[in-house]
Amino acid sequence: MSTSTLSKLFAFAALSVAVATAQDVPVTGTFPPTPLASKAYAYPTGIPYKVDTDTGLIRGGQHGYNQCNSTTEGPTSLCQTSFITSIEDFCLWGPGNPNSLVADTEGEMVAWCTKPGRGTRLIPQGALQGVQFIKTPNYIQVAGFIRQELININASDWGGEMDPHGADLRGNPMGGLIYSEAFGGGWTQVVEWHNFMGGNSFCFKACDPNKPDDEKYCEHRLDRIGCAYNAPNNAKNGTFESCDGENQDFPGVYTVNGQVMTYTQPPEEAGAITTMPYQPRVPASSNCVTYTSSAIYTGLPSPSIAIDIVATPSAGSGSASGSHGASGTRTGGAAGPSSTSNDASALAISGISFLGVAFSVLFLA
Ligand SMILES: *[C@@H]1O[C@H](CO)[C@@H](O)[C@H](O)[C@H]1NC(C)=O
Ligand SMILES: *[C@@H]1O[C@H](CO)[C@@H](O)[C@H](O)[C@H]1NC(C)=O
Ligand SMILES: *[C@@H]1O[C@H](CO)[C@@H](O)[C@H](O)[C@H]1NC(C)=O
Repeated sequence: MSTSTLSKLFAFAALSVAVATAQDVPVTGTFPPTPLASKAYAYPTGIPYKVDTDTGLIRGGQHGYNQCNSTTEGPTSLCQTSFITSIEDFCLWGPGNPNSLVADTEGEMVAWCTKPGRGTRLIPQGALQGVQFIKTPNYIQVAGFIRQELININASDWGGEMDPHGADLRGNPMGGLIYSEAFGGGWTQVVEWHNFMGGNSFCFKACDPNKPDDEKYCEHRLDRIGCAYNAPNNAKNGTFESCDGENQDFPGVYTVNGQVMTYTQPPEEAGAITTMPYQPRVPASSNCVTYTSSAIYTGLPSPSIAIDIVATPSAGSGSASGSHGASGTRTGGAAGPSSTSNDASALAISGISFLGVAFSVLFLA
């Protein structure tokens, strides 16, 4: 949650107290008895209808539900149980209603998924334009490019961050749960995760709860500096690939001349972030396997609005080939890999867009 949301919350709290005093109704609180990140449920049998049943708190009740089934599946689903296991099987948080802004709907986001059968909404065909899934020793991550209006995000929104904390510890979305089959032993509830959406790109990292430092790799406080700093990656527009990778540095932690430094994000009141003291390191990836999107995203609905099929590899030739990827390579945005790309020509081509997108994100995120 952004700091301005935090100050709004506290302003609202003060207002609630004033109103409560004036009208002699119970004073409402801010924090739940149990933070979302401390709530554990086995999937699928242990899932309650809603995990957030706290009443009387500032942000109101949980928007959707966590018990999701064949009845709830489809374009009106309010399922807030989400998944990430592989390039073929992941979800992103998106708004329930068309043309929404992430900042206005972060608390109410619902699951938009690539795989039918779990009671969620489905990401429409052609929406995903390039995806890199990566598995490292401590986390899994998916980053890529998306026609975000097809999952109800206003096309020009630079977006923001969802995570299981938020200023009031109820999460964004409130009550949102994440499960994965990528960590062995069946379904694992992911405790620490972050998902940036916006700028027609995304990144979503799910940290292995059985490994150390999951709260550091899935840092949730750097919500103004986007994917490039929180989830540095080599995702390429037009390419669908699944790789192994080395761990990133903890977001916000960087090394200069052998000295380990920690970045502190300034509060929104201090104005736009116009410079950054470091470029994040994009870790090496290996064993990349390239896929054809139409072969891995089967069972997805047609988009409800017309899209240009030429621009969407999944709907066209069926080939997510290298040439598409090379010409579409870019950086910045929610998905933005940093300019530490060691491909000089890609860097030259994308340098201007990196600066443009990076600064747009810094100003607007
Ligand atoms: C399906 O999920 C919805 C929403 O959680 C719930 O109200 C309904 O009872 C469930 N249906 C079945 C058959 O489990
Ligand atoms: C997106 O939001 C902006 C600003 O709120 C608005 O001007 C624009 O019309 C919206 N885009 C669409 C496609 O409605
Ligand atoms: C990804 O590539 C498609 C097709 O070239 C393009 O329309 C879209 O704008 C690109 N997305 C981003 C975020 O650059």
